Amino acid sequence: MSTNSAGARPVAFVTGASAGIGAACVKVFAAAGWDVAAGARRLDRLQALATETTSQYPNATVLPVVCDVDRDDSVAQAFQSVGERFGRLDALVNNAGYGAYGTVAETKVEVFRANMETNYFGVLRCTQAAMPLLRAAAAKSSRRWGAAIVMVSSFVGRRALPGMGSYCATKFALEGLSEALRVELAGERISVSVVNPGLTRTEFHASAEGERPKSYLRPATGMPAETVARSVLACVRRPRRNVYLTAAGKAGIAAQWISPGFVDWVMKGQWKKERGT
Ligand SMILES: NC(=O)c1ccc[n+]([C@@H]2O[C@H](COP(=O)([O-])OP(=O)(O)OC[C@H]3O[C@@H](n4cnc5c(N)ncnc54)[C@H](OP(=O)(O)O)[C@@H]3O)[C@@H](O)[C@H]2O)c1
Repeated sequence: MSTNSAGARPVAFVTGASAGIGAACVKVFAAAGWDVAAGARRLDRLQALATETTSQYPNATVLPVVCDVDRDDSVAQAFQSVGERFGRLDALVNNAGYGAYGTVAETKVEVFRANMETNYFGVLRCTQAAMPLLRAAAAKSSRRWGAAIVMVSSFVGRRALPGMGSYCATKFALEGLSEALRVELAGERISVSVVNPGLTRTEFHASAEGERPKSYLRPATGMPAETVARSVLACVRRPRRNVYLTAAGKAGIAAQWISPGFVDWVMKGQWKKERGT
């Protein structure tokens, strides 16, 4: 792992960096001249990612850091390590999360609770832990936006799908948190952007809880994780309230806004077919 002169490069913390979109963010930020703290539970994966990234971008420092977003102590320790190692934090990418499939009536409450713990409370924990460093970075900066928070949410945070009510609820919660936070932090020049990937080719689909509805799009048809990562970086440079990355996502959100009843009607038909009723 290479090092650089302290304070010269901006620093990002990416959660859920051991796979998929988070790992792609680490590489995209390193390529763009950032140092990165890569957080997740699987340290071996983070170490391999750090080695691979710094061999590709020798000027970058990548710090693998154990960060289980479900746990207060782990998150606190992770942000302390980042402060000690880099002395600054310019961007937080709240990306860690997982899916849970199953109908609302049949899925156990524990599944909902655990999903919320990671996808919503995990974001809250990391955001609060990052605030002192982000505030310090914003106070020092003379730019329009002195620091940035980017949430990796989903289309389903604005329009829920049947068969994944738990996951949708976590992303709806995340969207609400983000809207409040954006307004609260604007005066401190800390931006809050929300990136909504479409279907993305990552481990998300294999590692999700429960059984994915058969009629859903095949994960192999999804976008590459790098596309999402580039959008995350673009939001750090030029904040966006809510970014939808596919034409279908944009059309779906517009339809939901104009006529939610029509979207319900389309989905009821699809769900009927899925259930064979
Ligand atoms: N893939 C898609 O189609 C898609 C679409 C829309 C939105 N998203 C969102 O994109 C984000 C990234 O997902 P992905 O597609 O890249 O999935 P992925 O390949 O499965 O990666 C998920 C990452 O989250 C981490 N993670 C899970 N639980 C964690 C915890 N408790 N603490 C810390 N890290 C945790 C995993 O690391 P460890 O297991 O090592 O901790 C892993 O690095 C998620 O928020 C997801 O909801 C994905």
